[in-house]
Amino acid sequence: MKNSHVVVVGGGVVGVTLGCVLSRFLNVTVYDRDDQRIQRWLLCSPPFYEPGLAELVDGSSVAFTSSANCLDSADIVILCINYSVESDLRDTLHLISSECTTKSHRIIVDKSTLPLNTSQRIKHFFNNHHSHFDILSIPEFLSQGTAIRDCLSPSRVLIGCDTSESGIAAQNTLIDVYAQWVPRSKILTQNIWSTELSKLASNALLAQRISSINSFTAICDATNANIGQLTQSLATDTRIGSDYLHPSVGFGGSCFEKDLKMLIYLCESLDLVLVAEYWKGVLAMNDYQLQRFVRRVQDTINGVEHPHVAVLGLSFKKDTGDVRLSPSVRIIKDLLAQHNTVRFTVCDPAVTEMQTMNEFDGCKRVHYCHGIAEAVNQSHCLLLLTNWPEYHTQIDWTAVYDSMHEPRWVLDGHSIVDVEKLISLGFNVYQVGH
Ligand code: UDX
Repeated sequence: MKNSHVVVVGGGVVGVTLGCVLSRFLNVTVYDRDDQRIQRWLLCSPPFYEPGLAELVDGSSVAFTSSANCLDSADIVILCINYSVESDLRDTLHLISSECTTKSHRIIVDKSTLPLNTSQRIKHFFNNHHSHFDILSIPEFLSQGTAIRDCLSPSRVLIGCDTSESGIAAQNTLIDVYAQWVPRSKILTQNIWSTELSKLASNALLAQRISSINSFTAICDATNANIGQLTQSLATDTRIGSDYLHPSVGFGGSCFEKDLKMLIYLCESLDLVLVAEYWKGVLAMNDYQLQRFVRRVQDTINGVEHPHVAVLGLSFKKDTGDVRLSPSVRIIKDLLAQHNTVRFTVCDPAVTEMQTMNEFDGCKRVHYCHGIAEAVNQSHCLLLLTNWPEYHTQIDWTAVYDSMHEPRWVLDGHSIVDVEKLISLGFNVYQVGH
């Protein structure tokens, strides 16, 4: 195993983090068809923001390439691609099939979250290939922003395989690989269906907790109950715990919505109508939460002639520059569509000006700012839409008050501000569920 060559397909956060960790024990190449992305990694200048990843790459022996011929010498190929369209997976499989010509036996590990039964489909794809491929499903549970920690200390590693002799042998090979840094007790072996469903189930349950707590914010907003006090009470029940109960404007990012949709599709294809409806409710609650917030913003700017709204936070969560399905971006786009004269000044510690221009198609009513002071200056209304730590500690509210115009609304989507303090300074404040 020591001399095995591992090729990780996909130079994104999952592929590069895993590749670096594996390179401590094995000979690892990260392949990506996007040469610009590979060049960025070779220069140790990551194409996206992930805390600590540049340093991890710098200190690792991982090789990066955009030449697919590295696949031929691979003993293990690990798929770490966000397959948003079906043809992407097919293209990757065709590539592996045509490049892998010399060795008689290889292992393919599927780490991407794909529809159930994908591993079986990959197996069928290689049925007529002259060499033998064993397919394993090892779903990745890491989160953006904490990728390195999650990869080094996973809560569990699931390794799914079929029950053939070579399938079990391949499973054992990967157990040995992971056992070099993960305690054996955390490495669980399962059949491939369970492994694939586990990933969908895990993300669905996390999303469901967020939708559940957000449903309570609606009740709190309509009564005198307070979401902070409610979550405190829930979190002290050890059976419930505190994780994923932080109220928000809704969940975002590339995983939860996609995986819920995959789960719903699976239920429908199995004719499990009620189960599908149940999970649809989680998505519907997420939309509802976002729309509730949009309506609040509309209410605060309706009387203002040319409303200027400042937005702190564009990324879908803290510690990432990823704006895919970001609630912040969705809220701004909805307001732009519904209000002819509103304009935005936006800032985010990890989202660039170029990303912002691309995201809003160069819209003149969205102006990128390089810091909080610039963004809030002359605004009527301030939205806190990403839970960055600096928004908790580094905002000088007196200075913000002086630089804003009446009606000086602060709408807080992440329980960031001290509501009473801001009211005493003269702000109008709405905090989700307060
Ligand atoms: C998620 C899963 O956590 C991870 O295991 C999986 O591999 C990929 O999908 P990620 O999308 O990176 O990871 O982010 P996560 O930290 O889970 O947050 C997702 C969204 O939920 C964010 O928009 C976040 O702001 C929101 N969220 C999270 C809440 O609104 N409240 C919470 O209490 C937690």
